[in-house]
Amino acid sequence: MEQELDNLRTLAKEQLAAVTNSNQLEDFRIRFLGRKGQFSSIMKDLGQVPKEDKPRLGQMANSVKKEIEALYGEKQQALAPVAGGMVGDSDEIDLTLPGRRPQTGKLHPVTQIMNEVCSIFESLGFSVAEGPDVEHDHYNFEALNIPAHHPARDMHDTFYVSDSILLRTHTSPMQARIMEKQQPPLRVIAPGKVYRCDSDITHTPMFHQVEGFLVDRDVSFADLKGVLTIFTQKMFEKDLDLRFRPSFFPFTEPSAEVDIACVICDGAGCRVCKRTGWLEILGAGMIDPEVFKMVGYNPEVYSGFAFGLGIERIAMLKYGIDDIRLYYENDLRFLSQF
Ligand code: PHE
Repeated sequence: MEQELDNLRTLAKEQLAAVTNSNQLEDFRIRFLGRKGQFSSIMKDLGQVPKEDKPRLGQMANSVKKEIEALYGEKQQALAPVAGGMVGDSDEIDLTLPGRRPQTGKLHPVTQIMNEVCSIFESLGFSVAEGPDVEHDHYNFEALNIPAHHPARDMHDTFYVSDSILLRTHTSPMQARIMEKQQPPLRVIAPGKVYRCDSDITHTPMFHQVEGFLVDRDVSFADLKGVLTIFTQKMFEKDLDLRFRPSFFPFTEPSAEVDIACVICDGAGCRVCKRTGWLEILGAGMIDPEVFKMVGYNPEVYSGFAFGLGIERIAMLKYGIDDIRLYYENDLRFLSQF
């Protein structure tokens, strides 16, 4: 019995020394210390030894077991997890695998375009102003010459918060907000989110606009055309033709919708421009005298132009994307391309 215990101790030490990974260590534990392991079978034999030898042999068996357990514990420590694996654990750590890089974030393509639009207008001397998304009926409609029962309110599918509070349907309220506080000359752009109850491949309930307006003495439609020409040239990095189509907005007179020659086919006609050669990018016009009157400007002295452009639309044209909803699905495979 004593001999057996001695042999077991030596054998366990030898085998433990040869253990190099956690799988081998677990094997060792099962073979020596497990319920059906070598140690348990010796303990069973202990039942058969003469009564007078029991205390001595029992003690000896215990101390051998403790010794092996201690050595096992040390080995376990030595193989403790480091950086997600076991040191020297060749079948669990593959040092040739590439590391996991932290994902770096970037600006959303819509934010990138918005920043680009703003910096182009800033280079033309415009300053940037921001206003609230939750807006008073007054600024969104009333101050823009759209009274309560004006049919033009139908153009806007408005999200109402209460009778007189709403999510702004355009950035034009910023015209009234700025003009009522400041005197001309003014050159302002106001980027931001706008909301309309609308959703299909070219509309999302929330989208972005940049409003621009300039007020001074003797501002003419030619100034509007000049500013927009420079803007589109810089934005699309091409000499693009502009087309002004007569339109209507209650807060501008005359009003126009502005098209650029299709950036995809250069005006020849393609699927994106529906074979017309033109793409609509913004609404614009000369600020209506009624709007000036409401903010206390004298329309006999001052004139000005305003325009509102849709950022998603410009981003779609610039990047050749035909479904606006892609911008808001948060699919990194899409977003990381920009
Ligand atoms: N606010 C208008 C729209 O959202 C665009 C616009 C802005 C038109 C400024 C004229 C002048 O449709």
